[in-house]
Amino acid sequence: MNRHDNSSVGKDASQLIRKPTNPCILVIFGIAGDLTKRLLFPALCNLGSSGLLNENFYIIGISQEPYNDSTFRKQLIKDINEFITDSAAKQYALLLVKRVYYISGTFSNSKVYTSLKNKLNELEENNASKSCLFYFAVPPECVKTIALKLSKASLLSEHEGVYFRRMVIEKPFGHDLVSAKKLDKLLLSIANEEQIYRIDHYLGKETVQNLIAFRFSNGLFEPIWNRLYIDNVQITVSETLGVELRGGYYEQAGALRDMVPNHLFQMLSLMTMEPPASFSAENIQIEKTKVLNAVQMLTPEQVLTQAVRGQYGPGKINGVSVPGYCAEPNVSRKSSVETYIALKLHIDNWRWLRVPFYLRTGKRLARQQSEIIVQFKSGPATLFSGSEQKNMPNLLHISIQPEESISLNFNAKTPGPTLALSQVNMRFNYSDFFGRKPQTGYEMILFDCMNGDHLLFNHADLVETAWSLVQPILDVWGAIPPRDFPNYAAGTWGPKEADDLIMKDGRKWLL
Ligand code: BG6
Repeated sequence: MNRHDNSSVGKDASQLIRKPTNPCILVIFGIAGDLTKRLLFPALCNLGSSGLLNENFYIIGISQEPYNDSTFRKQLIKDINEFITDSAAKQYALLLVKRVYYISGTFSNSKVYTSLKNKLNELEENNASKSCLFYFAVPPECVKTIALKLSKASLLSEHEGVYFRRMVIEKPFGHDLVSAKKLDKLLLSIANEEQIYRIDHYLGKETVQNLIAFRFSNGLFEPIWNRLYIDNVQITVSETLGVELRGGYYEQAGALRDMVPNHLFQMLSLMTMEPPASFSAENIQIEKTKVLNAVQMLTPEQVLTQAVRGQYGPGKINGVSVPGYCAEPNVSRKSSVETYIALKLHIDNWRWLRVPFYLRTGKRLARQQSEIIVQFKSGPATLFSGSEQKNMPNLLHISIQPEESISLNFNAKTPGPTLALSQVNMRFNYSDFFGRKPQTGYEMILFDCMNGDHLLFNHADLVETAWSLVQPILDVWGAIPPRDFPNYAAGTWGPKEADDLIMKDGRKWLL
């Protein structure tokens, strides 16, 4: 999917997009947190070392920690050594650090916004742009406070065609349908939709963006991409990590809120949407929202039979013993928060009627793997009905990460005197074709919001539709606490009920 050049095959993004970003100042709320050092700063340096970041670019960070410009820059230099491995990006980082400024204070303190205004004026006097990206790398409960304070300080007023003021908001966007709507209403009362960039970092992954290219540029797959040829689709995001130090956040979120209305539904909608009229952000949003609107809303009874929740107990990951969820820092010892979810959904439209979509995600599972598997219907079995010869269904594996590949399984004759079949596969590895470039997944996200492209961001409608689909599950699970937690050991593939969910349809998880 490339909106800058149609001849994308065989080239990487830096070859295609020759123009650097628009000049601007990136204001990061929560700059002292993990996101900046692990992802945002390395991504900016990857952009910079590829010549894609405007030279007229500055960063102002705001956090509670008592740093000043010089102590924060020193800390960033330490982080560079830990989190940036590419040597060109490292070199760029040392230049960029000199353009980072730090304001210490709490987000509710008006003085912080006065200091911010002063710093922006000072930089502007030194030829910096008046355009600003306000990046909210903060807990969800701080979004409202910051947005209101920015508005009150008149920092959100822009001048069309001269300079922009944009807000970039990390997920989770709200806590449920009602809060997401409230947040949208508030944001839209102080800014317009074009100024709001709701991030889902899965859209920053090349392998996720490729879903559109794969589906709509290959005459081979699109004609069979429907209920007549596809038996079922499985989307798995399995992680070996636990909740690490994010217990406080996770206790409020759980696996369902953390992963389903955002990352899993992004992949679901890209896999199932109709071809857009063009690859404009607007047309893609329309199709994604349309298909999510066609997902059958679960009734309370269906929640009990089509959704499974789980929580990890102690176990072993790669041979190392790890504690159960309830023993993690900042987690209640009696927590009933789920760390695993499996779901069966249907899409009630012409293309997908009666095709089951099985979605699952969990922490502390057996292997780290995000993958989409499309199982095609088997050909007629009459010719190959002997057990030795049985034809297996064709499978398309789209590996999102850490492996980045697409492979197609099909049947071939096993060499020998009898007509026996074996499953073999054709495989495309990204690295074989495109090489390996240092990527955090945030490069295109930052690039696009500096250039005003909403392609990798969510419109309010899409976010609200996604919440409305998970709301019945939140309601039922909220009303009926789990009785069997923990119900899977760390290092396994999740609770047995998730296997039962798919086995009762005569199928199995294929990963
Ligand atoms: C985040 C979730 O949005 O995505 C995390 O909050 C999760 O809990 C992460 O671990 C997964 O992202 P990735 O890119 O590592 O698959």
